[in-house]
Amino acid sequence: MIRVLFVCLGNICRSPTAHAVFQQMVDAQGLGSSILVDSAGTGDWHIGRPPDPRASAAAQQRGVDMSALRARQFQPADFHNFDYILAMDEDNLRDILAQAPDSHSAQVGLFLDYASHFEEREVPDPYYGGDEGFEHVLNLIEDAARGLLEELGGSRA
Ligand code: 4NP
Repeated sequence: MIRVLFVCLGNICRSPTAHAVFQQMVDAQGLGSSILVDSAGTGDWHIGRPPDPRASAAAQQRGVDMSALRARQFQPADFHNFDYILAMDEDNLRDILAQAPDSHSAQVGLFLDYASHFEEREVPDPYYGGDEGFEHVLNLIEDAARGLLEELGGSRA
């Protein structure tokens, strides 16, 4: 089992979008029993809450259902519970690495390193912006999710 954790700040916009988009690609390729997907936020404000309605609506437009997801906070144990910990931006990455135990084997990095159609390295925080921000987030995430799936042994979705 390969275990993948997506991390952003609130776990209500970007990382749950990545979670749902990537899960759908994994399931579509019949890889649900070999790739485990989860998401978390470095912050604690939204623990237990469903995704931001703007993120859910944008995903739904592309046939991706986020309704079952609930926010949780990133925890140091995640270094042992996941093989890949993929941050949406550099701040998230810094916050994650500051909690790293002395020894762990998780691969920690930026999710957009798996993207091939965009130059950006960070998924911008859409929380305080308009609906177009959520579309851009989805475009970036779909690109990187395809690259990640290929990396993990699937074919390009
Ligand atoms: P996310 O977006 O990190 O993509 O889930 C945010 C959600 C909430 C806040 C910031 C970013 N907030 O400040 O409450």
